[in-house]
Amino acid sequence: MAEIRTTGAAAAAWTPDSWRAKPAKHLPVYPDGEALLAVEQRLRSYPPLVFAGEARNLKAALGEVAEGRAFLLQGGDCAESFAEFSADNIRDTFRVILQMAVVLTFAAALPVVKVGRIAGQFAKPRSSPEETIGNVTLPSYLGDNINGIEFDESVRVPDPERLLRAYSQSASTLNLIRAFAQGGYADLDFVHRWNLGFVSDSPEGARYEEFANRISEALDFMRACGIEPKSTPQLHTTEFYTSHEALLLGFEQAMTRVDSTTGDWYDTSAHMLWIGDRTRQIDHGHVEFLRGVKNPLGMKCGPSLEPDDLLRLTDLLNPKNEPGRLTLIGRFGAGNVEKHLPQLIRAIEREGKKVVWSCDPMHGNTIKSSTGYKTRPVDRVLAEVQSFLAVHRAEGTHAGGVHFEMTGQNVTECTGGAQAITDQELGDRYHTHCDPRLNASQSLELSFLIAEGLKRERMEKVRPLPALASGF
Ligand code: PEP
Ligand code: CO
Repeated sequence: MAEIRTTGAAAAAWTPDSWRAKPAKHLPVYPDGEALLAVEQRLRSYPPLVFAGEARNLKAALGEVAEGRAFLLQGGDCAESFAEFSADNIRDTFRVILQMAVVLTFAAALPVVKVGRIAGQFAKPRSSPEETIGNVTLPSYLGDNINGIEFDESVRVPDPERLLRAYSQSASTLNLIRAFAQGGYADLDFVHRWNLGFVSDSPEGARYEEFANRISEALDFMRACGIEPKSTPQLHTTEFYTSHEALLLGFEQAMTRVDSTTGDWYDTSAHMLWIGDRTRQIDHGHVEFLRGVKNPLGMKCGPSLEPDDLLRLTDLLNPKNEPGRLTLIGRFGAGNVEKHLPQLIRAIEREGKKVVWSCDPMHGNTIKSSTGYKTRPVDRVLAEVQSFLAVHRAEGTHAGGVHFEMTGQNVTECTGGAQAITDQELGDRYHTHCDPRLNASQSLELSFLIAEGLKRERMEKVRPLPALASGF
């Protein structure tokens, strides 16, 4: 078996630019190659956005997920944009992820590893390289770090200067997130305050409030026992990690540095990087680049992924079979999970591979609404998560995490849900730069559903409760 899977690629030497000798899909063509090289050179001299030690901490936390002792919550924008960049947006995304995490931690009694699609999630693979409106055809929008979304010929030309602006936006975003995570905003005593704004008036907000009351009671109980949240870091602060799709390899290479403590290469643009479903070809540049950096990696698994290919990719991306190194993110579409996921799980289990199984219920469920908007019915998003939980229950494996596109704003981009957003209402607040996102209330709805599923998994397996020291 191992012999059949040998690709030869693993034996070849890896360098941060070895991907350049391979074909790679979805890379933009810059008209001014010299200007691009000059920008990449500048980026090479800029400080790292994250530190190798943090990436190792995340890998260890994901190792706990792989072993069934924690849950991964990964979410954020489909595409961050320069236009939506503001402190309020960052805070609101962070806040909803905290709300979701607290629901999951409390209901499932599992530590939750929180990873944002944030502080670097700009570049997008597009289904078509061109967009036509009327009788005008222009290159597609590829993400604010590459070109602009306005339907204008000059704006759609890839501009390397945008990489510098994206770097700077990522640095400020990360700075604020670190402040929120460590500076007291994430203190569990504020669990009620995370429910401010429009969400508190929604049905999901009321449901969240019930959770918050129970958590406050638990904290009061602990206080009475002499445990003060203020002096207990696990209750006063939280760990929050960043991630994005490692699509734009020139940028990722420029951010890749040797960690002085271990001598290993890390891509310092984010803690975790993932490979998209459209760029996971084993002999192509994206897989080549990511196999050489030590960050925890994700890989999207769509309906076209065969078990043998998955095993080959797993060998290449995680040759030492380290738990936490590789997260497999299924995105099959509601109704397709039962057809594809069990055979992938069985192949991985048969070979004794340690992976985190996560579910992206967004990308297989995109449709065009009757009013012309790209949308995702919340019912289908929830149905895909439910199938993911059910398949893992049947296979006896741990449903390790979810990966979804959301915002803390009150947008109308996905239909249905408890708010029952209709096709006609999509135009009210449709702001996404790429795919439709769950709004704050729909995200909470998703967390309640997962919490129920995880609680059931825990009850069935009767595994010991994690120690308090694992944090939330
Ligand atoms: C994405 O996560 O935004 C994305 C493009 O997903 P996928 O690679 O699964 O299509
Ligand atoms: Co997307």
